[in-house]
Amino acid sequence: MYKKYLLLLISVTTLIVANGGAVPTVVVGEDWSFPASVQQAPNSGLYSEEASPNYNVNLKVFDVAWKQINPSQGVYATNIQATVKDMPFATFASQNASTSPFWMRIWNSGDLWAPSYVKTLCNVGVIGKDYDGEGHLPIWNTCVWNEIKAMYRYFFLTKNMRADPRLKFIQIPGAFNWCEFDFDVIGNYSTSTGYTFAQFNTWFQTAMDDLVYIFNGENNDPTDDYAYKLIYTGEDYPFDVDSWPAAKNKLASDAVNRGMGIRTGITEVSNFHLSNIPAYGYLIDSNGYMVLNKSSILQNNPKRVIATENECYNACGYKVPAANIFYAVKMSNLKALQMGVNWLYVVNNDSYLKQYTAHWNWVRLSLGRYPNTAFDAWVALRDAQDKFSYGFSWTGAPYVKNYERFLTQRDVVGAVTKRGTTKYTNVVESNNGIAYEGRQTDIPNNPSIVFYLDDQFIVPTSNISTPVQVKVTYLDNQATSWILQYTNTAGVLVSSDPVVQQGTSKALTTATFTLTDALFQNNVQPGNSDFKITTTGSQNIEIWFVRVIKQ
Ligand SMILES: *[C@@H]1O[C@H](CO)[C@@H](O)[C@H](O)[C@H]1NC(C)=O
Ligand SMILES: *[C@@H]1O[C@H](CO)[C@@H](O)[C@H](O)[C@H]1NC(C)=O
Ligand SMILES: *[C@@H]1O[C@H](CO)[C@@H](O)[C@H](O)[C@H]1NC(C)=O
Ligand SMILES: *[C@@H]1O[C@H](CO)[C@@H](O)[C@H](O)[C@H]1NC(C)=O
Ligand SMILES: *[C@@H]1O[C@H](CO)[C@@H](O)[C@H](O)[C@H]1NC(C)=O
Repeated sequence: MYKKYLLLLISVTTLIVANGGAVPTVVVGEDWSFPASVQQAPNSGLYSEEASPNYNVNLKVFDVAWKQINPSQGVYATNIQATVKDMPFATFASQNASTSPFWMRIWNSGDLWAPSYVKTLCNVGVIGKDYDGEGHLPIWNTCVWNEIKAMYRYFFLTKNMRADPRLKFIQIPGAFNWCEFDFDVIGNYSTSTGYTFAQFNTWFQTAMDDLVYIFNGENNDPTDDYAYKLIYTGEDYPFDVDSWPAAKNKLASDAVNRGMGIRTGITEVSNFHLSNIPAYGYLIDSNGYMVLNKSSILQNNPKRVIATENECYNACGYKVPAANIFYAVKMSNLKALQMGVNWLYVVNNDSYLKQYTAHWNWVRLSLGRYPNTAFDAWVALRDAQDKFSYGFSWTGAPYVKNYERFLTQRDVVGAVTKRGTTKYTNVVESNNGIAYEGRQTDIPNNPSIVFYLDDQFIVPTSNISTPVQVKVTYLDNQATSWILQYTNTAGVLVSSDPVVQQGTSKALTTATFTLTDALFQNNVQPGNSDFKITTTGSQNIEIWFVRVIKQ
């Protein structure tokens, strides 16, 4: 049966396919190369507490505790030092003397971060302790919030710091552990505050409006608007409020819709709770792919900040064995890029910047791209469990397919793929679940894998070929062969020379094809795709990563 099919394929192939296409160059390993002309995108980069110029981490923090800059009511100071969590914070004035760009945190909610006058003035006390044992004040208390608001207003409106070009972004509202506005870090708010969700939500919406209003100059003049420098640091739905389970809301989306950016801190656990993130503008579709909500204002405004943090591999209580370190770093970075991140928090050493320079350079230069400004488009083929319970289902749930950036792969008749054979379990932590990396053809009925380029990456109506390299990273796990097929400028389906796998190395291997005559016009069958990879040998192929790079 299979042999008969192969013969048929060969005879059909000789009729309609032009041969003598691209000759692949095959090199063992993954490939993160990019054209030498690629520069870092505007409003993007790596950031951290400290700058590490050797690794292109050029955005450092400007950290102050509330009590340092507002020691008593209506009094603002720039000459006071403080210590927070054993970290010495220099005076506002000395940090403000920097000539380099910075990002900011104002540490507000901690009992030891807030000025002591607040507790007396507002008649409040500690409402709960974070996982470091530090107490926090209720920032939603009207009196407390009025004082915080007045402080933001003084520095960012009166002193106009919002317009300072050195200030790239500020994490707000500056509450709870490490200024991460995470509602479970100090226990159960509904029991510790006595608030209903409605009461809390009223404060929340007003507070976000207050900060946006201050940063937009408290006027209707759009030329002095800087709310895009505010980044909301709470978790996306439905992690936003755990303490009022009946009242799940989209607080992160509300903040983003008011004009703020967003940051999460946990893309290291890359398969978990990050498949459906409405505030980021990405949703899981009914077939189990993560897709962009095309009306996302956040993802369409190049001034906004879309951030995450990738440093907890052998830090923050996590432990990843040496054999899986690169895998963990890579998957978290691909996840961040899939989410449209433009600013990525790293820690020199903990993020393995030194060990994986080639990969990190590609990541840094990929941050902040749009389909029409990207130098490459890629897909990581995979099937991974998302153990978070969203309350809805999809085909294949709880497994989610692929990480995709301007290049997608879809299963269509004749190109229905199977899971890859390499299984990872609980990398970084148990919530990360099971991931099968790579996807296989399924011969004889499904000998191809089909791919679709974003129509803004290469415009399909153009009849002029855009020179590209296609890099295909496959697992050399069995003896077989395959070809890359695309339509050329004469409208003919062209096949590359075959990549012949020995299947002996068992290693990830990258084949590079240089195409100078390809048109990507959604006319490759099956499935009206832009190009496909087709098995020509007697065994299935297993593809992990495909990248189309503009030359
Ligand atoms: C911070 O530094 C800038 C630039 O020198 C200056 O214009 C601004 O007044 C300073 N801010 C404060 C609050 O001192
Ligand atoms: C918090 O307490 C409320 C009231 O006792 C309860 O309904 C809710 O389940 C608790 N939330 C969490 C996350 O434990
Ligand atoms: C898509 O984004 C728009 C604009 O922010 C929003 O109104 C809409 O609710 C989003 N769709 C979903 C399904 O989240
Ligand atoms: C950096 O990482 C290495 C392990 O790769 C570790 O031995 C060393 O202590 C770390 N240094 C710092 C300063 O964290
Ligand atoms: C390409 O498109 C242009 C504009 O539509 C047309 O003038 C030209 O003849 C086309 N060239 C080819 C080779 O089809």
